[in-house]
Order: sequence, then structure tokens, then C-alpha cells
Amino acid sequence: VEEDQKRDVGVEAVCRSIRPLPLESSVSGTIVPEPSEFGTLLCKRRSLRAFSSEPIPRKKLERVLVDCAGGVMTSPIGNGTNCNKLYRTIPQGGGICSLSIFVILLRDTGHLSVGGYVLCPHTNALHKLEKGIDAKELAAAMRQAQMPVFGDASAILVIAGDFESKTFKYGKLGYRLVSLEAGCALQNALLSIADQDLAGFAYGGFDDQPLAEMLKLSFPDQTPLSAVVFGVPKSSE
Ligand SMILES: Cc1cc2nc3c(=O)[nH]c(=O)nc-3n(C[C@H](O)[C@H](O)[C@H](O)COP(=O)(O)O)c2cc1C
Repeated sequence: VEEDQKRDVGVEAVCRSIRPLPLESSVSGTIVPEPSEFGTLLCKRRSLRAFSSEPIPRKKLERVLVDCAGGVMTSPIGNGTNCNKLYRTIPQGGGICSLSIFVILLRDTGHLSVGGYVLCPHTNALHKLEKGIDAKELAAAMRQAQMPVFGDASAILVIAGDFESKTFKYGKLGYRLVSLEAGCALQNALLSIADQDLAGFAYGGFDDQPLAEMLKLSFPDQTPLSAVVFGVPKSSE
């Protein structure tokens, strides 16, 4: 009964959100953009949830992480500091680096073993987390009864925000800025997945604190904001 009710709320919520304006009152008619690689990629992105058990190729996995929010270039800040500002694939409010990108490998890839990793955006290198990932703890943090978690998926990418780094300058506005940056990173990852013919979907159903603890984040200043489950697509999809 509970499942049926949940489904009804979901359908009701989607229906409520569909509110088209009458086309007759538009000033443009339906806009058909000039064909572009970027536009094609945007239209190609879909949530795909069926995975093959094939290992994810190393280059593809690494590209998803770097595309998501890797470093692109640095430039000196000046103002009497030796500090270099880091530019990333995401825009960052105030140029302050507030996002960390983690990946939890669910299956061996041949080059990296199962476990948690963090991307250093200064070098775009992956670092393994000291503590291993316990499969049962992960299932609980992901609110997944199914084992293995997410079936044949290869990995879970986790986008975590450090609110303190942004509220230090912007006060309460910092919370919104970090959340927006996480959205940018999420879209980057999903587009990278689509561009590389991988399968994946955004996943927001995790339990913040247990997942933060698994990733050694100091919750609640640092917290997971979004996740992407991804892997090699099942050929039938
Ligand atoms: C922030 C966010 C969280 C999401 N969380 C989940 C989730 O927990 N489980 C899931 O199956 N899909 C999740 N999705 C995927 C949506 O269900 C999906 O984007 C939507 O159905 C539209 O389909 P499309 O992605 O193929 O366009 C999430 C999407 C977003 C943007």
C-alpha cells in the first residue's frame, strides 16, 4: 500500500509540474537551435539504470571525474599572496574551491581496486581513502536494500560541498553558492557519461551523515550534495 501511495505522489508531482504556456502567445514559435555537437550531447543525456558487468575502461572512468570538476588552469591571485587561484570545469563563487569529488568503486576495474577515492583538482590525480568501504555500510548510507548496491554499476561518484569555505566570505549566501556549484558538477558528470557512451543516473536518495562519515568529511560543514551511479550500459538499453 505504501509503495502505491508513493507512486501516486510521484505521478501527481510530475503532473503538477507540467504547465505549458500557449504556443500561440509566444513571440518566437518553437525554437529549433542550429545543430551543434554541444546541443546533440545535451539531447543525448538520459538516465540509464541498467548496467553490464563489464569493467569500466580506465580512461572513461578518469574522464568522468576530471570533466565533473577537475582543474583546468591556475593564475596568481597577487594582492601580496603566493597563492594561485584554481580554475575548474565548474564556475566557482568567488573563485573559492568548495567542492570535492569522490568516487566509490564498486568493482575492480583492473587498474584500481574496490574502495573510495578522492580527486585532487590541483593535480587531477586520484588518491585512495585510507579506510576501505564496507559494503553493508554503503548499502545503508545509500538506502539500498539490494546487494550488490546498484547491481552491476561500476562506481558511485559523490559530489561533496564544504560550506564553511564559502560562508567564511559570503555568510548565508554561501550555502546557495555551494549547492549551485554541485549542480554544475552534476551536469558535467552526466554529460561526460553520455558523451562516452556510458550509463548512469543522478542519485539523491542517500543518507547525508553516514555517507559523509564513510568519506571522512567533517559533517555538517562538509556534506555530500549529489551522487551519480554509473558504469557500462547493458547492451539492450
Ligand atoms: C538532483 C537529482 C537527484 C536524483 N535522484 C535520483 C534518485 O535518487 N534515484 C533515481 O533513480 N533517479 C534520480 N534522479 C534522476 C531523475 O529521476 C531523472 O533525471 C528524471 O526521471 C528525468 O529523466 P532523465 O534524466 O532521463 O531526463 C535524480 C535527478 C536529479 C537531478
